[in-house]
Amino acid sequence: MPQIPIENLDKDSVLAWLLENDEAELNRLWQKADGVRHQCVGNDVWLRGLIEVSNNCARSCAYCGISAVAPRSKIYLMDKTEIMASAKKAQEYGYGTVVLQAGEDPNITGPWMADIVRCIKREIGLAITLSLGERSDEELKMWREAGADRYLLRFETSDEKLYRQIHPDLGGPSNRIAQLERMRGMGYEIGTGIMIGLPGQTWESLANDIWLFRKYGIDMVGVGPFLESPGTPLAGELGKKLRASAGNNQVPSDDLTALKVIALTRLLCPDTNIPATTALATIDPTGGRTHGLQRGANVVMPNVTPTEYRNLYQTYPGKAGTHESADVSRHKIESQILSLGRTIGQGPGTSLKYLQQH
Ligand code: 5AD
Repeated sequence: MPQIPIENLDKDSVLAWLLENDEAELNRLWQKADGVRHQCVGNDVWLRGLIEVSNNCARSCAYCGISAVAPRSKIYLMDKTEIMASAKKAQEYGYGTVVLQAGEDPNITGPWMADIVRCIKREIGLAITLSLGERSDEELKMWREAGADRYLLRFETSDEKLYRQIHPDLGGPSNRIAQLERMRGMGYEIGTGIMIGLPGQTWESLANDIWLFRKYGIDMVGVGPFLESPGTPLAGELGKKLRASAGNNQVPSDDLTALKVIALTRLLCPDTNIPATTALATIDPTGGRTHGLQRGANVVMPNVTPTEYRNLYQTYPGKAGTHESADVSRHKIESQILSLGRTIGQGPGTSLKYLQQH
């Protein structure tokens, strides 16, 4: 059998790599991805302090443990003082950025979040990443003007039919790709990503997802395995039905496939920032994060959310770091990075692609 090309990949080669399971061949992929990572984004691993601001969500995404259709846990919204204290902690730890993430909480209004963004900028001075779901242009512009630098919104799958089945409309139809494009126009650095092994996800659609990261010139790409959340539609009948519809073409939600996606994303988007995600660390607690960093990733997002809120922000069960303090997460992650002979990035860690264009 001829070897799968590793340079100038086209969509067929991406698909062939996704389906490859020969260890020697895969080593070729891992080495190439690590080499391109080293050459294009260097040895630094960037740390982003994650603050899980609210677990209240109005949306009914079929996979998510904090969606409106998931079994309700206690609802919380961090107040401004708590958010500022967490951001301060991120700064003390030397993280260059905070990521303010939440469900689509109706109590997170445009002006409320704009005020927090301004305060963090003024008093702490970190780069600010928002990850607050599908939002109106008015809110997005307000936050950008207040000083927000980046926005993360995963499109989850490029298969339109599957996307619609797992993202029920709220008001108007859900369209994350359109929002990503509009946010780019507003000057945000934009991040997206997908889940790997969603029920109904086929190998072809996964190859297309990776292709789109390049097509849209994404600055940050976060991917992780789908992990079934009890009580959600994908853990029940809908999940069964979608899996059956994909048949033999169903992508598994395992660490090997997630690592292939990270490596291929690095090859197609050489200067993009790619995190070794929490979902990867959850599915493989001992090796997930380090394997990600050795196969293309250059970012980790340590959690700085107060411990009392962490177990209420269970987008999926057994989320890595749920019972740790911010301090423990930091030490664990930093020692993993240093043990790989990598260095910890200093400063905001803006994507090289974004810097070249602005
Ligand atoms: N398994 C894995 N990832 C999940 N996310 C939400 N629910 C799950 C799940 N059950 C991911 C989605 C979302 C991000 C914040 O968390 O990709 O965009």
